[in-house]
Amino acid sequence: MRKAVYQIILSITVLMLVSSMVYSQNTVPDTSVHKWWKEAIVYQVYPRSFKDNDGDGVGDLKGIISQLDYIKSLGVNVVWLNPIYNSPNDDNGYDVSDYRNIMKDFGTMADFDLLLKGMHERGLKLVMDLVVNHSSDEHEWFKQSRSSRTSPYRNYYHWWNAERGKPPYRYSLFDVNHDAWRYDSLTNAYYLHFFSQKQPDLNWENPKLRQEVYSIMKFWANKGIDGFRLDAFQFAAKDTTWPAFPKGFEKNFIQYYGMQGNLHGYLQEMNKEVLSKYDVMSVAEGAGSTFEDAHNLVDADRHELNMAYAFDGVDLAKPEGYSVLRLKSIFTKWDSAFDEKGWLSIFLANHDQARLVSRYGNDSRQFRDVSAKMLMTFLMTMRGTPYYYNGDELGMTNAGFTKIEDYRDVQTINEYKRQKSIGASLPAYIKRIGFESRDNGRTPFQWNNQANAGFTSGTPWIKVNPNYKTINAAAQEKDLNSTLNYFRKVVKLRKDNLVLVYGKYTLLDKNNPNVYAYTRELDGKKMLILLNFSGKPAVFNTDINIRNATLLLSNYKKGLESRALLPYEAAVYLLK
Ligand code: GLC
Repeated sequence: MRKAVYQIILSITVLMLVSSMVYSQNTVPDTSVHKWWKEAIVYQVYPRSFKDNDGDGVGDLKGIISQLDYIKSLGVNVVWLNPIYNSPNDDNGYDVSDYRNIMKDFGTMADFDLLLKGMHERGLKLVMDLVVNHSSDEHEWFKQSRSSRTSPYRNYYHWWNAERGKPPYRYSLFDVNHDAWRYDSLTNAYYLHFFSQKQPDLNWENPKLRQEVYSIMKFWANKGIDGFRLDAFQFAAKDTTWPAFPKGFEKNFIQYYGMQGNLHGYLQEMNKEVLSKYDVMSVAEGAGSTFEDAHNLVDADRHELNMAYAFDGVDLAKPEGYSVLRLKSIFTKWDSAFDEKGWLSIFLANHDQARLVSRYGNDSRQFRDVSAKMLMTFLMTMRGTPYYYNGDELGMTNAGFTKIEDYRDVQTINEYKRQKSIGASLPAYIKRIGFESRDNGRTPFQWNNQANAGFTSGTPWIKVNPNYKTINAAAQEKDLNSTLNYFRKVVKLRKDNLVLVYGKYTLLDKNNPNVYAYTRELDGKKMLILLNFSGKPAVFNTDINIRNATLLLSNYKKGLESRALLPYEAAVYLLK
């Protein structure tokens, strides 16, 4: 008997010893720090342009379903889908007229359920766009709201009665006259729209409206989605005393519009009522204008959101180029501001930007592939959650349309009208949008070299980039060294190495105007990343000896032979 007790005690002790050894040898994830959404690689699908299944020229949910194996093959694990709700499409779905139904162009709720199921079966999570800074003017709430000053929905929006005179100027990003107040004769009042006239701003100060939004969020969370991207949310709360802003404030409008009023309070309420009840990730578009603003959004102790994305990096590229020193300093500053608390989003492109390789790399025949690979290496080796926009894995380029008739984007078209009305040079504007219009990033996905790049059997809603004959997924599938296959490699590298997710980031050779070099370090594992952002060979200076290092990935056939990087060369080393 005694022997048996002794044996039990012994085996328990051995078990405890072994488990404590395992615990100390492997870095067991601390669940307060390690989160699935931090380890995620987000792939953004722009449904209108991804894949058309029914031949009407517009991408749809069935089209996405047909390409789920492709998405899975990239190695990404989260998909962010731009809005797919009912919408009159003034702003391609960012003007929602019914938050609980699917836009006809895109399919049905049954298609949606199949899509979600297909994603989950493949281990892909789905993040949906939540557009609640504004709705469509065709939403039932707005129809009711504008019908009478005494409607129970009146306070779902911001109204200014005209007998008070003209409201204080507010800048609109998409309005032909940049005026965010639109007069409505029906009730002799102005309503507010920070975006287009068909996107009236919702009144977050109204608790009823907030409850409506939470109930919409629960509807989708109960369907099993895995996250929300909160569109333009930094603008949701307003100072409803409507103070006059200084002349020219629109140049810095985020300072005046961002993080106003009780925005943080509303987010805490949203967190309590919805987000905390589901295993969902949350990311806000926009992060205010200071690090403090950004921190407050994502500090876990405040119970608001998981991540936000700021625009400093993505706003840098201009037709005349950009400063690599500036890019380095922006990314480094953001990293150090979040090195102890909070979490970043890493991105340089999305549906609101022209193409990644055209803006931050070099889309010439000579350098397109290699510079696209260099940019991938950058985005996949930074700390934070990377967001990658569909088509950028192929190195798709700007279409650069030269006629205004070829553009579809409300912002691009309304600004054209404005430039015309103020007598500005239209050729100069056309040149500018050829580089920076959002439509450059919205041309159909280039699947193959067949008609319309294999996107549709009908007439595409926006022209296909003519270079689809050479730049397309089918051709790149066959080529082991293609941009697409490199993307798969760099995604795998990130997934296999938590050091690239959580590791400390240290900038090297800070003043080098062409080379972006840094290390990432975690639990004794250290990687060196070298990126030449220029089209010329570039020398880099660090004390690190790479002779004994192992080359893990390079966008050229072999590793470095000297301290000079080839044009747009990217190399990732494991240091000894
Ligand atoms: C966000 C979206 C953009 C949209 C705007 C208005 O910035 O990303 O596409 O036009 O909000 O909803």
